[in-house]
Formats: sequence, structure tokens, C-alpha cells
Amino acid sequence: MVGRLFSSIENIALGGEKMRVGQKLVLFALLFFPFILACFWVFGVKTKVQEKRIVIFLKEEEKELVLREMRELLRSVNMILYGISTGDYDLAHRYAKSSGMDMVEKFSAVEKTLLLKLPDEFKKLGFATHKGFDEVAELIKSRENQKILSALAELTSKCVACHDIYSIQAEK
Ligand code: HEC
Repeated sequence: MVGRLFSSIENIALGGEKMRVGQKLVLFALLFFPFILACFWVFGVKTKVQEKRIVIFLKEEEKELVLREMRELLRSVNMILYGISTGDYDLAHRYAKSSGMDMVEKFSAVEKTLLLKLPDEFKKLGFATHKGFDEVAELIKSRENQKILSALAELTSKCVACHDIYSIQAEK
């Protein structure tokens, strides 16, 4: 079907003369390129970002600071899990402590204006998360994995909750 269609177009284009391979390719590309594009348009991957989160506007450097702290939290979770799984409870304890309330104190000592820009709910969830790390640190001393892991699950549900509600953008 496609072959017949193609050779009749070839006939129209050259009035019955034989086409060279190069010409054929060009004609083929011209004919089918829109068709392929249309396929992508109809069947291709489509995404739509539905931003339903509350956006917190911060200065570029403030945003970077908060995100750096976030990466530290993830590192702590990671190292706590490593520590527990290898029996290195000291390592797990150290990393749990490093993301506890001490982190907040250091942060608020230098970033008072930044703290004022954060919504109250955000700060509450944030503080609860840091307290959670201190609680995990205490439990790590008991070396009871089940208890430690359930506290860690409780703690990480706060990460998930906050990420569902808020995002951060740099002020223009
Ligand atoms: C109080 C709110 C809040 C809590 C609690 C919270 N986060 Fe976040 N986190 C954010 C926001 C807001 C962003 C930026 C997300 C965005 O703009 O899309 C973020 C971003 C991140 C990022 C990306 C960093 C980057 O460089 O882009 C990581 C990793 C992260 N968080 C880890 C964690 C972990 C792990 C926890 C829990 C132990 C946690 N966060 C708890 C609010 C929170």
C-alpha cells in the first residue's frame, strides 16, 4: 500500500522518469517526517506539572542554604541505615545527632532573617524532624533495630509530609 502510494508520487514528481536513490530518500523523508511528528504528537509521552504545593520564596543563597541542610538530612538517614545494618551503632548515633536540635541551634544563630521568612507550619514540621533525629539517636543506644527502624519510619514520614506541602523558589 505504502509502496504503491510512494511510486505513484514518484511518477507525479518526475513525470515517469526513474529516481536516483538520493532523490528517493529525500522524497521519503519529506513525505513521512510530518507523519512521524504527528505520531509523536498523538501517542508520544506527555507530561504536565501540576504544582499544588505552597511555594516559599527565598533569596537564591538562602534557598541554597536550606537545600544544603536538606541534603545533610538525607545523608544522616543514609548513614544511620548503614550503621544499623553493619552493626556500627556509633556511626549511626553520630549521624543521628548531627541532624538533631543542635543543627537548628547552629542554623538559627546565623540565619535569623531566613527563619522569619519560613511559614510557622513549616518551622513546626522542621523542628519536629530535628527532634525526631535526637529521639532516633537515643534509641540507637539501645541497639534494638526494630525500635530504631520504627522511629526512623516515623521520622521520614515528616520528610514526606513536608515535601508534599512545600516547595522553594528563588525570588526574582
Ligand atoms: C519542614 C519541611 C521539610 C522537612 C521536614 C523536610 N524537608 Fe526536605 N525539602 C523541603 C523543601 C521545601 C524542599 C525543596 C523542594 C522543592 O522546592 O521542590 C526540600 C528538598 C529536599 C531535598 C533536595 C535538596 C536539593 O539539593 O535539591 C532533599 C534531599 C531533602 N529535602 C531531604 C529531606 C529529608 C531526608 C528529610 C527528612 C529527614 C527532609 N528533607 C525533611 C522541606 C522539608
